Amino acid sequence: MNTESPIGIFDSGIGGLTVVKAIQAALPHERIIYFGDTARVPYGPKSEITIRKYAADDTAILMRYQPKMIIVACNTVSALALNIVEKSCSNIPVIGVLKSGAKLAVQITNNNRIGVIGTQATVCSNAYAYAINQLNPDIEVISQACPLFVPLAEEGFINHPVTKLVAEHYLTEIRTQGIDTLVLGCTHYPILRQVIEETLGSGISIIDSAEAVALRTRELLSESGLLNPSHKVSVPNLLVSDLPQKFSMLYQLFMGSALPNVDLVEV
Ligand code: DGL
Repeated sequence: MNTESPIGIFDSGIGGLTVVKAIQAALPHERIIYFGDTARVPYGPKSEITIRKYAADDTAILMRYQPKMIIVACNTVSALALNIVEKSCSNIPVIGVLKSGAKLAVQITNNNRIGVIGTQATVCSNAYAYAINQLNPDIEVISQACPLFVPLAEEGFINHPVTKLVAEHYLTEIRTQGIDTLVLGCTHYPILRQVIEETLGSGISIIDSAEAVALRTRELLSESGLLNPSHKVSVPNLLVSDLPQKFSMLYQLFMGSALPNVDLVEV
């Protein structure tokens, strides 16, 4: 492991690309190796035991590339299996999206009422409420699972009428709860941010943990002397467990850059 080693990032599918984008913006000279477990997405409706097994598999795939750190670009894994990831990669640092999102929300709220939307597994784990209340026990956390958002994002239904209907269905109740801040507690959700924002109306700050994770990554690499000194801008190395072509098209749609090479790996 050295300064030139890649940063390993994983998610169940395309959601983690929102984190890749933020890392590229903050650290353009870092090499990125991204794994999307497209054969087994979505993780959110699965049991804790299954999610923990997937987290170990995903980490093992990235470890083959000797990364200098791992970013868990999946709230579901961050909520239920962060310790499995840490155990599976022994001595390299691991950052999960959940803590960064919770921290940012606590900094932003003025009225101490924070909404969190996420997958079924993340919401049921109560991990956001726990992380937020560790930082400030006076904050009220109101959560809502939005399971259909993940397949909609995976289909590229960014601005589709169906997405608008689904958003209306999920967000009507939480909108009336007096929250001033809403955490997008699933990395797929920033892909649907425009529809989510329109449905919520004005006056609610939206938290996307990707930027906070990117800043924390820069801090961590700098503290440990592991920032890549290169001046070359790297193209991420992309791996998926199924349908590389579909991933490649979606990558182009979300990242706005040319069709990348996507390799297939077995899980
Ligand atoms: N993007 C992931 C998350 O942040 C997983 C979504 C899923 O696969 O259900 O939770």
